[in-house]
Amino acid sequence: MIGRLNHVAIAVPDLDQAANSYRDIFGANVSPPETLPEHGVTIVFVTLPNTKVELMTPLDAASPITNFLDRNPSGGIHHICYEVDDINAAAETLQDSGARVLGDGEPKIGAHGKPVLFLHPKDFNGTLIELEQI
Ligand code: CO
Repeated sequence: MIGRLNHVAIAVPDLDQAANSYRDIFGANVSPPETLPEHGVTIVFVTLPNTKVELMTPLDAASPITNFLDRNPSGGIHHICYEVDDINAAAETLQDSGARVLGDGEPKIGAHGKPVLFLHPKDFNGTLIELEQI
């Protein structure tokens, strides 16, 4: 079902500091910040030769990653995203397997304009997994 690793998302308390570290210390290609009000985050993308790292910080206290940063004040890996060809087929396979899809189980348009699903971390080794149809 899953294909390439699309991105690893890291929640950070200070986006400028994190972006500067990746740019200035690692010498990575870092995008300008992009605010995604409907997802409650501001992000930058770090483009690597084989995948991307998404650095994200909450827009406000209501952000879905505010609680995560309360528990992990210096930041941490929030989720990893695998590519799938057919998100609806993936949803069906997951439902049949008993794995829990977060929310109502239907694909939603994710932070990058593509259909996504999030899977319960307890079903996948404590890792929040995003599936994205590319
Ligand atoms: Co993501």
